[in-house]
Amino acid sequence: MSILITNIGELVTNQPDGQAAGAAYAAVADAALVIDDGRVAWTGPAARAPAADQMVDAAGRAVLPGFVDSHAHLVFAGERSAEFAARMAGQPYRAGGIRATVAATRAAADGRLRANLGRLAAEMLAQGTTTFECKSGYGLTVADEARAVAIAAEFTSEVTYLGAHVVPPEFEADPAGYVALVCGAMLDACAPRSRWVDVFCERGAFGRDEAAAVLAAGAAAGLQPRIHANQLGPGPGVQLAVQSGAASADHCTYLDDADVDALASAPTVATLLPAVEFSTRQPYPDARRLLDAGAVVALATDCNPGSCFSSSMPLCVALAVREMHMTTQEAVWAATAGGARALRRADVGHLGVGASADMIFLNAPSHTYLAYRPGVPLVAAVWKAGAPALGGVG
Ligand code: NIG
Ligand code: FE
Repeated sequence: MSILITNIGELVTNQPDGQAAGAAYAAVADAALVIDDGRVAWTGPAARAPAADQMVDAAGRAVLPGFVDSHAHLVFAGERSAEFAARMAGQPYRAGGIRATVAATRAAADGRLRANLGRLAAEMLAQGTTTFECKSGYGLTVADEARAVAIAAEFTSEVTYLGAHVVPPEFEADPAGYVALVCGAMLDACAPRSRWVDVFCERGAFGRDEAAAVLAAGAAAGLQPRIHANQLGPGPGVQLAVQSGAASADHCTYLDDADVDALASAPTVATLLPAVEFSTRQPYPDARRLLDAGAVVALATDCNPGSCFSSSMPLCVALAVREMHMTTQEAVWAATAGGARALRRADVGHLGVGASADMIFLNAPSHTYLAYRPGVPLVAAVWKAGAPALGGVG
């Protein structure tokens, strides 16, 4: 059955294949869109729209591709609001806090982890996210990591094995032994349910050679690499991401010229996570430097209980515009098509013909309102694969 959505104030379609983020943004004013069998079949000016079996009036709302949140840690128990309060009182962010969540997660029953993830997934959908990635990384034993990827796989196909998040306390004296476990029995247990392998390459977590070993082992098991890189200080993460053909280097807060050059000349996406800097009071990444150099930039939340407990892609868009000097078009592209690129997905993040009809209807006439009206719940409805998943547009 075909559906014509008409009277769209602004239809953001994107061009997923454009090199620079800004150049790849595309939109049609006074638009219509036809869905057939869950996919976009036609887009263009409403005045030229073809007939369809059913018609929906968007009442002048803006319609955007659903957000693609390519970086989230959602399988965990407990919370760390006291750490956040301490940071706001002047303490720095410390990667070691991850261990508090590891302890709470290990102690939690499956049902608790599943319910927590379900709540966060619903929260994301309500804010317009139609595709999200989900990492393990708060289990750090073979059984707890295997359970994390299994629970994540109940909610998304974009599951990332992050056994190399930090060295857990029981391996404090034997980090090499932990890396061997991550590359051995833990990987064997997690690979069947995972698409991606990730590593936190940072001082206090894993160094270059350890990270390279984890990514190589993951690749040998059929997983594609992505990396937490250059979050807390300068380091080898970005270069390793590019050298290992990672889909994405995430954070990119502390980059030198060679890092920017490497990202600009490789297909590896620079995924920026500005809600982390908001929540840790670190400096924001220099998005302009990356964009102006020609790197592909994505935006994601990094939703996790430690460095950023926000699931809000609209917040990321607003921060990217206000704090990182991205244009509204660049930010919306990065939060949709950019995220899709970071997940190597051609079917989402845009509304070109053939794309999955994953759409956000905004209670606003244009995408600009995401940054112009920060903090305001503008998402009127969300459709997934051509069907309403949340809200209404009537
Ligand atoms: O992406 N950087 C590593 N991992 C998370 C933080 C996790 C935590 O603090 O619990 C991040 O910021
Ligand atoms: Fe992260």
